[in-house]
Amino acid sequence: MASLRQGLARAPAVDFAEFDPAPPAPAGALAPGAASRAVMAIAATQEFLFVSEAGAQIHRYELPDHSDILNCGGYIDKLLKYRDPALAAHIRANGVTPAAFADPRFPLLATRSPQIDLLILRALLKLLGDDPERRVRIFDLGCTVAEHYDLLALMLEAASQGKFDARRNIQYAGLDVSALALAAARALHADLPPEAFGLILQEGSAVRIPEGAYDLSLSIGVIHNLKEPVEGTIRLLNGTSFAASLACWVCAQDEGVWLTSHHAAPMYVFGGADLRRIEAETGMALLVGDFVPERASTQQRHFAEVSEAALETLGCYHLLTVRDPAAFGDLPRLKT
Ligand SMILES: C[S@@+](CC[C@H](N)C(=O)[O-])C[C@H]1O[C@@H](n2cnc3c(N)ncnc32)[C@H](O)[C@@H]1O
Repeated sequence: MASLRQGLARAPAVDFAEFDPAPPAPAGALAPGAASRAVMAIAATQEFLFVSEAGAQIHRYELPDHSDILNCGGYIDKLLKYRDPALAAHIRANGVTPAAFADPRFPLLATRSPQIDLLILRALLKLLGDDPERRVRIFDLGCTVAEHYDLLALMLEAASQGKFDARRNIQYAGLDVSALALAAARALHADLPPEAFGLILQEGSAVRIPEGAYDLSLSIGVIHNLKEPVEGTIRLLNGTSFAASLACWVCAQDEGVWLTSHHAAPMYVFGGADLRRIEAETGMALLVGDFVPERASTQQRHFAEVSEAALETLGCYHLLTVRDPAAFGDLPRLKT
């Protein structure tokens, strides 16, 4: 298999500090001989660029960053699907099992976040099995609208036949860098008391969680966007006393690498050395729930300057990181 580094041989590294898509060259993005007096192109940085037929820039208007807005809308939609009475009835009737989560009538349940929630639910049930009256402290890094809370609450109630109840048994804290997402999260959970539900507005790797402050944590689709992906992940895990679930993009090489994905956001792909460092600095075992090659992903990203061969070496691990691997003996340990 070609290594990612080989794939990047033409452009050794993408330096985001200098990443500034130039206006399209007259001979490039603009159709030659366009009939109108001005041509408008929408560039990857979300701008309206008005260019004359001759290629001169007339006006450049930067649009506000819409990724927040789109992200928020998409995740509200997801949360509403989790609250769909038909989905709840399906889970109550068929159980919180991989088979019920593969039912084609509810395709959302087969996607990454619910699949990883199955892992964290196992850890949650273990903690509550030991002490049914307790409130398990859960930290969600990159929580968007806190839609994981809704699915976990439903799963917990269904898996325990109503014995456990999120309002009583969970203390949830969600962190996100997007104020818009958190405003939506708050509005959508306005009925929950502060001891059950809290939100933190912050960049994820800047957060300093006291050691073991949370029993469980999760970060799905976020650690690769942190300013300091490896350090931020280490801080998250050290703030977690029992188990954490992570979606972790990796490449088949020792060294991690920053890539530009289709929406031009920098994305860090972890390397083997990063994973070993995470193990060493957190004392946690990395257990594998699943591995999805990037090629098999339903939401494939398009990375700038990464060859087809190199793409084959990328994928996402669904990890459960734990302090006591014996408690999850069926899950294989990641070979780092
Ligand atoms: C792809 S969404 C993931 C949402 C959800 N966790 C899931 O399971 O699908 C990424 C979320 O992480 C947030 N995010 C991105 N970079 C972040 C950072 N550096 N610190 C904190 N949150 C961040 C975004 O605002 C967004 O809400």
